[in-house]
Amino acid sequence: EVVIPLSLQRRVEGLLQEHLDRAQLNFGKVGDNSVDSMASSIENVNLDDPDSFLDGSVMEKVLQRRSLKMRDFQRAWQESPEGKQMLEFRKSLPAHKEKDRLLSAIARNQVIVISGETGCGKTTQLPQYILESEIESGRGAFCSIICTQPRRISAMSVAERVSTERGEPLGESVGYKVRLEGVKGKNTHLLFCTSGILLRRLLSDRNLDGITHVFVDEIHERGMNEDFLLIVLKDLLPRRRDLRLILMSATLNAELFSNYFGGAPTIHIPGFTHPVKAHFLEDVLELTGYKLTSFNQVDDYGQDKMWKTQRQLLPRKRKNQITTLVEEALSRSSFESYSSRARDSLSCWTPDCIGFNLIEAVFCHICRKERPGAVLVFMTGWEDISCLRDQVKAHPLLGDPNRVLLLTCHGSMATSEQKLIFEKAPPNVRKIVLATNMAEASITINDIVFVVDCGKAKETTYDALNNTPCLLPSWISQASARQRRGRAGRVQSGECYHLYPRCVYEAFAEYQLPELLRTPLNSLCLQIKSLQLGTIGEFLSAALQPPAPLAVQNAVDFLKMIGALDEKENLSNLGQFLSMLPVDPKLGKMLVMGAIFRCFDPVLTVVAGLSVRDPFLLPQDKKDLAGTAKSRFSAKDYSDHMALVRAYEGWKDAEREGSAYEYCWRNFLSAQTLQAIHSLRKQFNFILKDAGLLETEPSKNNSLSHNQSLVRAIICSGLFPGIASVVHRESSMSFKTMDDGQVLLYANSVNARYQTIPYPWLVFGEKVKVNTVFIRDSTGVSDSILILFGGSLTHGVSAGHLKMLEGYIDFFMDPSLAECFWALRAELDKLLQRK
Ligand code: CDP
Ligand code: MG
Repeated sequence: EVVIPLSLQRRVEGLLQEHLDRAQLNFGKVGDNSVDSMASSIENVNLDDPDSFLDGSVMEKVLQRRSLKMRDFQRAWQESPEGKQMLEFRKSLPAHKEKDRLLSAIARNQVIVISGETGCGKTTQLPQYILESEIESGRGAFCSIICTQPRRISAMSVAERVSTERGEPLGESVGYKVRLEGVKGKNTHLLFCTSGILLRRLLSDRNLDGITHVFVDEIHERGMNEDFLLIVLKDLLPRRRDLRLILMSATLNAELFSNYFGGAPTIHIPGFTHPVKAHFLEDVLELTGYKLTSFNQVDDYGQDKMWKTQRQLLPRKRKNQITTLVEEALSRSSFESYSSRARDSLSCWTPDCIGFNLIEAVFCHICRKERPGAVLVFMTGWEDISCLRDQVKAHPLLGDPNRVLLLTCHGSMATSEQKLIFEKAPPNVRKIVLATNMAEASITINDIVFVVDCGKAKETTYDALNNTPCLLPSWISQASARQRRGRAGRVQSGECYHLYPRCVYEAFAEYQLPELLRTPLNSLCLQIKSLQLGTIGEFLSAALQPPAPLAVQNAVDFLKMIGALDEKENLSNLGQFLSMLPVDPKLGKMLVMGAIFRCFDPVLTVVAGLSVRDPFLLPQDKKDLAGTAKSRFSAKDYSDHMALVRAYEGWKDAEREGSAYEYCWRNFLSAQTLQAIHSLRKQFNFILKDAGLLETEPSKNNSLSHNQSLVRAIICSGLFPGIASVVHRESSMSFKTMDDGQVLLYANSVNARYQTIPYPWLVFGEKVKVNTVFIRDSTGVSDSILILFGGSLTHGVSAGHLKMLEGYIDFFMDPSLAECFWALRAELDKLLQRK
C-alpha cells in the first residue's frame, strides 16, 4: 500500500479551477435584491428623462404619492363590512392589547425581544402593526419590513393569512419568498421569508439597504440559520442605526436573547390558552384499554413492575441514565407488531416503537368517546407519517372518509396540500392531522382540541469527534412537550396524550440543544467566508452559544479538502460559487463537476434528488415489492443514484404520455417528490447557466452523459469522503468505512440485493447511526475513479497502478481533452484489471 501523491488529485482540481476561472461567474441574479422597494418605484418616473430618477426629490415624490394610495386603500378596507369583521377578530388576539406598548418600544429601541404563546398574534400581527401605522402616517411606501420564518410552509401560510387580513391579494403590500417560490410585487412592503433567504440576501446586500425593520421569528427554536442571523445582525446594527430588529419567541426564555443584545428590552404578551389536560402513557393505557402485549412476553418486565421499577430508580439515577434505561426497556418490550419491523428497519427506535397500534387506539378512543374537535399528532418524520397514514386508512372505523378526514403536515409537502390542514372538517367528520414537529410552534391550526405526542423528533446530531452527522429521532425537550400540549388549548380546553411515561418526561432536557451545536458547519462556514465576516473561528465565537472548536475545525478542513478554501482560509473561486448555491457545498461541487465534464443532466438529477429526499417509497407491508421495483431501475449499475436518474427520466417520459400517475404507483415512487426534484433541477440549471458554467446549447453539456463511468466519477467527486470499501470474504460481503469500521447498507439500497459487487468501493451521501452505522444511497466506484476524483484517500492502490496513472497525467491535463478522459479511464480500468 502506498500513499497517493496529492499532485494527482490536484490535477483534477486544477482542471476544475481553470474552468471556473474561464467561466463568466455572474452572481448578480442569484441573490435576491428585488425586494428593495426603492428600486422598484422607478417605474413611475419618466424614463425618457434619465436625470429624473437620479433626483432624490422625484423619488421622494413618487413614494409619497404611493403612500397616500396605500392609506386610501387601507382606510377603505377597514371601513368595509368584511374589513370590520376582520378587524374585530384581530382585536380579539392577545397581541392587540399590547399594540401601543409594542409600537412605542420599537420606535424607541433598536432591538426588542417579544415573547408570547403560540397563536397570540406575534407573527401575523406585529409586523402588520408596523406596516399599518406607517401607512396611516402617510409613510407606507417608505418602510420595508422583513419577517423571517424557520420553515417554508410557515412563511407561505402566514403571508397568505396577513394579506387576507388586509383585504388584498398576496403579492400586494404583503408577499413571501422561500426557496423555489415567491410571490411579491412592486408594492410589497412586508415580506415573509425563510431565514435562509435573508442570509442569502445578505450575501449581496451586506447592509440590508432599504430595509427598515427585521423580525426574526421563532428564535426559541434555536435553528442554525436564526443563530447565524443574530450574529450577523448584531454586527450590522451599529452600521445601520436606523434599522429596527425585533426578535420573537414562543417561550419565556427571552432573557438569553436580551442579554445577547446588551440588555434589549423584553415584552411579554400574556396568553389566553385554555387549560389542557396532560395524559401520560400510564393514563393513556388505562383510557384506551390498550394492552402492551409484549411486556408479558418479556419475563421479568411485567407491565406494572416496569413502571414501578422506573419510579423507584428515579431519585438514584442520573437523568440521562434514566432516559437510556427507559429507552432500553421500551425497545426491549418493542410491542409485538413492531419488533420485527424494528429489527430490520432503520427507524427502529422511533416513536412508532411505542406502536402505531397504540396511536390507533388513541384515535379510536377520541372518535368514539370524546367531544368534537380536531386531532393533531406529532410524529418524527415523513416516513413514519406515511406509514401511519397507510395503516389508519386500512382501519374499519378510522379509514372511513365519511367519519375521519386524515391529513398530513410536513416540511416538504405541496402548497395545495398545506392549505387543506387549515380548513375545517365537515360536520361529524373528525379531522386528524399527522404532523412533524413543524406544527409545534410556527403554524396554527385553529380547531385542534386533541394532541397526540410521541415524544420524539428527528434531530440532526453531530459527533465532532468522529465527524459524523446523524439524523436520529431523539427525545424532545420539556419545553417542546409543553409547546405541543399547548396546541390543544387554542379554542377551548383540550386533551393531550403523551405516549411516554411521566418519568420519561421528567428526564427530558429542559430546552433543546441549539442546532448550531449539533450539525456539521460546512455550509455555515462557507457563508461566513463569502459574507467576509472575518476568521471563521472568531466569528462563530460570537454566537449565542458558540460551537466546539473541533466542529469548526472539521468544517474548515472539509472546505479546504473540496477546494472551497485555500490553505489560508481564503475563499476560492469555487468556494465563492458554492456559497451562492442553495445546496450543501459538496453537492454544489458535484454540479459544477457535472457541468465541466459534460454529463450535466444525470448529475443534476442526482443532486436535486439528494437535496430533496428519496422518491422511492417503502411501504411497510410491501417492502419487498418496493425493493424489487427499485432494483428494476438499477440494471447492473450497482448504484442507487443511477436508479434515481432512471426513475426520474422514466417519470418524465410517462408524464409526456399522460401515464405519470400509473407509473409512480407501479414503481413505488412519490410523484410529489419527483415534482420537487423537477423544480429544483430547473433552479440549479438556471443558476449554473447564469454563472456561465453551462453552454447555451443543452446537448453540449450532455455530450458525455451516456458514459456511466463518468457519471459515477462525478458522483464520487461530490460525495467523497463518503467512502466504504467492499470486502469480499469467502461467500459473504461486508462494508467498512475508515471512521466507523463495519457498516450496513440501508434495506432499500439496490446494492443490498447483490451477492457480490464488482467494485472495490461504494461512495455514499449519507450515513445514519442507529446502533450500527447504516449507509443510505450508494454507488460502486473503481480504484481509478477514486484516485482521480476522490480527494485524498490513501490506501488500497498499489505502486504499480500509480505508475500507470502518472503516465497519463499530461494527457489528462489538457482541458480540451476532457472528452478523451474516458478513453483514458477505460485504459486504466483494463490495466488495473489485468494486473
Ligand atoms: O405567531 P403567533 O403564534 O403568536 O400567532 P399567529 O401566527 O400570528 O396567529 C394569530 C392568530 O391568527 C391565530 O391564533 C389564528 O387564530 C389566526 N390565524 C389564522 O386564522 N390562520 C393562519 N394561517 C394563521 C393565523
Ligand atoms: Mg408565529
